[in-house]
This record gives sequence, C-alpha cells and structure tokens, in this order.
Amino acid sequence: MSKVRAAITGVYGYVPDYILTNQELETMVDTSDEWIMSRTGIKERRILKGEGQGTSVMASAAVKGLLEKTGTNAEDIELIICATVTPDMPFPSTANLVSAKVGAVNAFSYDISAACSGFIYALTTGSQFIESGQYKKVIVIGADKMSSIIDYQDRTTCIIFGDGAGAVLLEPTTEEVGILDSIHKSDGNGVEFLKMKAGGSMYPASHETVDNRWHYARQDGATVFKFAVTNMADYAAKIMERNNLTPDDVAWLVPHQANKRIIDATAHRMGLSDDKVMMNISRYGNTTSGTIPLLLWDYESQLNKGDNLVLAAFGGGFTWGAIYTKWAY
Ligand code: UT7
Repeated sequence: MSKVRAAITGVYGYVPDYILTNQELETMVDTSDEWIMSRTGIKERRILKGEGQGTSVMASAAVKGLLEKTGTNAEDIELIICATVTPDMPFPSTANLVSAKVGAVNAFSYDISAACSGFIYALTTGSQFIESGQYKKVIVIGADKMSSIIDYQDRTTCIIFGDGAGAVLLEPTTEEVGILDSIHKSDGNGVEFLKMKAGGSMYPASHETVDNRWHYARQDGATVFKFAVTNMADYAAKIMERNNLTPDDVAWLVPHQANKRIIDATAHRMGLSDDKVMMNISRYGNTTSGTIPLLLWDYESQLNKGDNLVLAAFGGGFTWGAIYTKWAY
C-alpha cells in the first residue's frame, strides 16, 4: 500500500485594509523610505484597526475563505492548529476562538508558539495527524497582529512588522505529492536577542512593566540578522541535499519574509535565481506566523501540480527550519 501523505489542498489569506506606508512611519519616528527600502525591502504593511479586534478576526476570515473556496463544510474539520505569538488572550487559545467563529464544532484546536517559524512548525505538526491516518481534514493557520506588540516609538522594530493571516487545508493523498520532509530546530538562548519581556508569568502586567515599555517586542536586529542568514540558508540547503534536489529541481523557495537581504542570501546559498523566490515583503512587511501562508496565497495561481517547494523560516526563540513539499494541485 502506498504511504499516506499530507497534501495542501487549498490556501487562503486575509490582510486588513489599513496600509501603513513608509511615508507615514517617517512622521512617527526618525526614519526614511530610502533607509527602510534599502535595509529591509519593505514599502508598506497592513494594520488591523479597531477596538477588540484580535488575531482571531484575521484568522477566522482566512479560514472562512478557505472553507468556501475548497467547498469544505466547517463541521467536517477535525483539527485546527493556529501558529501565533499574538493570541487574542493568553487563554483560551486563538485556535479555540477561530473554531467557534467558523462553526468547526467537531474540531479540537490549539495554538503553537514559535514566532516566525510558527507556521512551518504547525504545518509539520498538522501533517503528522494526517500521515498517521487519524484525521482527514486539518486546517493550519499562521496569524499575527504584530501591531499589538510593536512600539511605534522604536524605529528598529516598527518599520518591520505588519498584521496578516493565512490558512491551508491539509488532506491525505497517496500520490507522490504533499509534505515530503521537514527539519526543525530551536535554541532558547536566542531569548537575549528577540523577545517580548512582559505579559507572561515572569513579569505579569504591572505599572512597572507598562512604564518600562516591556510589553513590546524588542530585538537586537544585527545579531538576529546574522543567525537568520546562517540558519535559514543552512537548513534550506540541508533539506535540498537530503532529498537530492538540485537548484533546477526546485520550482520555488517560500521564505519567511523578515528582510529581503536574508531572503536573497538564502536563495543564493540554494543556487536559485530570483524568479524562483516568492516575495511579498514590500507589501506586507513581516507578519511573523502569517508570511508563508500569505505567500502561498499570493502565488497560488503560478503553482503547478508537482512543483517542488522549499519552505524556510527563522525567528524568535530562536526557532528555525525548512519543509520540502510537492504542490498537490
Ligand atoms: O522575523 C524574525 C526575525 N527577525 C529578523 O530576521 C530581523 C533581522 N534583522 C534585520 O532585519 C535588520 O537587522 C534590521 C532591519 C532590523 C536593521 O538593519 P541593520 O542593517 O542590521 O541595521 P542596524 O541595526 O545595524 O543599524 C544600523 C544603523 C544604526 O545607526 P548607527 O548606530 O549606525 O548610527 C541604527 O540606529 O541604522 C540605524 N537605524 C535606522 N535608521 C533609520 C535602525 N533603524 C533605523 C530606521 N531608520 N528605521
């Protein structure tokens, strides 16, 4: 009997309407469109506005679109995994809130927290439930409202991040397509360089944490950049090697969108030309868990069944890794 694999059988994305441009950021902090474009490749990002609007709003919109597009009944979904570092609240999980909002009454659901690697961690996790034969319809979401943890007085972070969500449907296949391999790593020593200090059990919210602006994400950009370039490129190259993929075999690199220079370095290491690299960082910035499903959504019409895709990410933790998948439709 042929092996059961998990195939992505649909993708959908959601980004909020509000566009925060480099020009608007120039009025908020000491920066320039020229600096932001040349150092990151970002032109604009989307921001979810409105009181009481959390990550689940964007995630639910992506899932509703996905169900409609794939002709799937919400009641048939068995599992929903949401990768996010900006859950609506510490608990219940954002995935729980999404299942209620979309009517996935028969699903169990939970969140995965792995910063910018969240979506690839969740995709690997979801695909195991399909490969084991336990479930036949799993939704994996990557969603973050980064604007809720960004300090718009800190020019080193506020120019990078944006809000957005994407979701994929995973179903079993016995064809030679779907998720074929994955490698993941993490190293908690990275906490020094990229974290949101307060709001957890170590420093619950207090006057002190608010006064010190500890409820915002902080990063040592140059150090994170160095680790990101090395590890994202190494792991993307590693997954090519162990699956005997040459640059010609790879149709697309689907890289986390943190910085255009990190993406270019990864593509270079893999021997790929620019036309094989998915990129939408200029329009959305870094949406953390959202970047990879949003890329698949943007590029879906250019994908063909059998295309070899390498997904790669690096983020806070540190967390990183790569997935090899053959596009299934
Ligand atoms: O997705 C999760 C993982 N995150 C990442 O992968 C992000 C990785 N890091 C980066 O993408 C880059 O490090 C940044 C885009 C955050 C920063 O770029 P950089 O080229 O590493 O700049 P830098 O931090 O070394 O700063 C260079 C200079 C500094 O000025 P001095 O000290 O040389 O006078 C900064 O103060 O650029 C200054 N600077 C800015 N100038 C104008 C920093 N931010 C800005 C800004 N506008 N927004």
